[in-house]
Amino acid sequence: MGVIKDILRTMDYGPSPESSEHVGGWLEEHKAGFGHFINGAFTKPGDLFDIFNPARGERIARVSQGSAKDIDVAVAAARKAQPKWAALSGFERSKHIYALARHVQKRERFLSVLETIDNGKPIRESRDIDIPLVARHFYHHAGWASLIDSEFPGTKPVGVCGQIIPWNFPLLMLAWKIAPALAAGNTVVLKPAEFTPLTALAFAAICVETGLPPGVVNIVTGDGTTGAALVAHAGVDKIAFTGSTEVGRAIRKATAGTGKKLSLELGGKSPFVVFEDADLDSAVEGVVDAIWFNQGQVCCAGSRLLVAEGAADALYAKLRARMANLRIGDPLDKSTDVGAIVAPIQLERIRRLMRQGEEEGLEFFCANDSLPDRGCFYPPTLVTGVDPASVLAHEEIFGPVLVATTFRTPDEAVALANNTRYGLAASVWTENVNRAFEVAARIKAGVVWINSTNMFDAAAGFGGYRESGFGREGGREGLSEYRIADEPKSKPNASRPLRLNASPGLAPARNLDEAPDRTAKLYVGGKQARPDSGYSYAVLDPAGREVGLAGLGNRKDIRNAVEAAAKASSWGAATAHNRAQVLYYVAENLAAREDEFTRRLSAMTGASARAAKSEVDASIRRAFVYAGYADKFDGAVHATRSRFVTLAMNEPWGVMGIVCPNDSPLLAFVSLVMPAIAMGNCVVAVPSASHALSATDFYSVLDTSDVPAGVVNIVTGEANVLAKTLAEHDGVDAVWYVGDIEGAAQVEALSAGNLKATWTSAAAIDWAKAEGREFLRRATQVKNIWTPYGE
Ligand code: NAI
Repeated sequence: MGVIKDILRTMDYGPSPESSEHVGGWLEEHKAGFGHFINGAFTKPGDLFDIFNPARGERIARVSQGSAKDIDVAVAAARKAQPKWAALSGFERSKHIYALARHVQKRERFLSVLETIDNGKPIRESRDIDIPLVARHFYHHAGWASLIDSEFPGTKPVGVCGQIIPWNFPLLMLAWKIAPALAAGNTVVLKPAEFTPLTALAFAAICVETGLPPGVVNIVTGDGTTGAALVAHAGVDKIAFTGSTEVGRAIRKATAGTGKKLSLELGGKSPFVVFEDADLDSAVEGVVDAIWFNQGQVCCAGSRLLVAEGAADALYAKLRARMANLRIGDPLDKSTDVGAIVAPIQLERIRRLMRQGEEEGLEFFCANDSLPDRGCFYPPTLVTGVDPASVLAHEEIFGPVLVATTFRTPDEAVALANNTRYGLAASVWTENVNRAFEVAARIKAGVVWINSTNMFDAAAGFGGYRESGFGREGGREGLSEYRIADEPKSKPNASRPLRLNASPGLAPARNLDEAPDRTAKLYVGGKQARPDSGYSYAVLDPAGREVGLAGLGNRKDIRNAVEAAAKASSWGAATAHNRAQVLYYVAENLAAREDEFTRRLSAMTGASARAAKSEVDASIRRAFVYAGYADKFDGAVHATRSRFVTLAMNEPWGVMGIVCPNDSPLLAFVSLVMPAIAMGNCVVAVPSASHALSATDFYSVLDTSDVPAGVVNIVTGEANVLAKTLAEHDGVDAVWYVGDIEGAAQVEALSAGNLKATWTSAAAIDWAKAEGREFLRRATQVKNIWTPYGE
């Protein structure tokens, strides 16, 4: 009896390794090296590179380095297969995806072991979390395949999707990418990470086994150069990327102006906030799952512990005790908690950052220093007293390192939580439900877990705010990334001439003082503002006659407008009913001035009185529509895990830049600005440059409609010049741009700075029809809040 007691006390029992026999056999069969999976078959192995088991430092396989030519062949196969795949009935596509789910499930053991050998993660995690979630994703999306046409009316598949995934959840990331793409009628070329391509290749074998039509899924292995070739390929319609923010930014620039759809799921430095009234024992288990799960190599890892000052000592003591019980070692051992770091280079990255922390004088606590004598291991580490300015507090370490800071008040907790360029996830621990939701609402992150952490499900969207990227993966939110509007391609807009002395017959810009009363100024912070340049430009009718003068805005004016918009952020917190009332008032005041706007449009554009009146009427109707929508673009409660409520809340971006086209000057302006403000954004709008006066007349509509100062700011001038400043500005969270090809490319490329979301069109838009939920969806980002219930 004494012995059992001792065992229970020390928990010191022997190893319990999972068998790797089958996986070993499979790897042996492919000793000569793996080729790519293209058009339903494996290619001959090409230039090979080595794949290691990071826990042992041993080579386990060799895979092919994909070239631009390989990508070309794979894209061609995907292109050829796409129309047929899309033409299958939803039911037929469903059956294929369902078969993938079933076969993954049948091979759960094999895939778990392979994932663990390839990546170094504990078998407990690959077996209980990764692979079951892979199956869940295929099941969930099998269902979507048959529902897509009825649930996403007016849309069609994007086409061929290039998908690039990281090494931290190799097969799970593959499932997150491939399942929705296929359900939505697309075909794919996927590039797994160079450290961990093996489960993707095993999945390719499953595609053959289930009889998936050739070319629907193609897998090309290789490193970043292979990924870059996929991004650059002209035959790819969409890129979906998960990985580092640095590479995400490069991809944003590389795809700018190409018309490729893009979704980015990038890094994070997610806060784990513990209030004084939290259940500390649960919070400790939460921390274990937040930062020591997958050795901390998790994009949404709760890597910054923010703890109320009064609870800090107790929490740290409990954490240190718990850390002593974490088992580090052979990932194949079923009782291992912490496995290996994926590769020596990643281990070195962690060590380098920790050395920087050491130089700053930070104190580290590692409970378990006895690491295996070979392989890539790093002990779970707690760093306390971390200054928010420390490198460890803002750099993504991507290792098992938790940095802790204390706070005094909830406001301070929120400020610290948001003190990061990222915004992927957050975890909030308190027994006070009001506080939990208040803090969840104020933290800028795509996912917030209340009294829980690292919860995932195929039915809920996952993705970031700010530099954690844009777009969502999972559920309805994720599917819309894989569909586009089903409408005929319209012809590209002509390049916009710069208005300033650029076109023959244009009046030169002039000093404002020459015509002070005839010059419309800018509208910033609820007031008319003189442009910084001191210049105006002439707005001409089609015959070249001057209709009036508009202020010539410059980058300083845009900056002032952005500042005014940021100050008006309480608009986003106003009730939707309040916003609706203000929008109704705008519509009503526009209606009261119908004749005046009609005359103005007619004079500027040369449209007949009837056509001009019809544009004004359409604008009034549109304003009413968005007033109506303001309190009806609901979020959702996703059907995820039992005993969890998963709320998908539509939140405004914050500050939006909106650059309007030259045509339909009033209707386009109203069609773009109204949905944005209806959803709670504050806007800096650049109206039609050539017909700016209907927007400048709008100032008085805004003034008389109780629109709070700063909610709508209007800067007239050369659209592409002003768009440049908007796209570059870190205070702008999203930009909509309608104009020419050069302008759209410029906006997309420059948005890479803070990775703001963009929605651009360089083609003519039928403004009579440009209305509805898609505009509201684009004016919001979804935050998923997970809350458990029950004791
Ligand atoms: P990475 O971003 O370089 O790699 C991710 C994927 O992108 C891989 O498949 C890689 O081959 C591919 N890739 C690399 N360069 C590319 C390019 N120019 N064009 C297209 N594809 C390209 O990440 P890496 O180097 O493996 O890890 C570096 C750091 O990134 C980590 O320490 C961690 O901080 C972060 N990271 C974040 C992840 C996340 O899930 N958010 C996942 C992996 C890494």
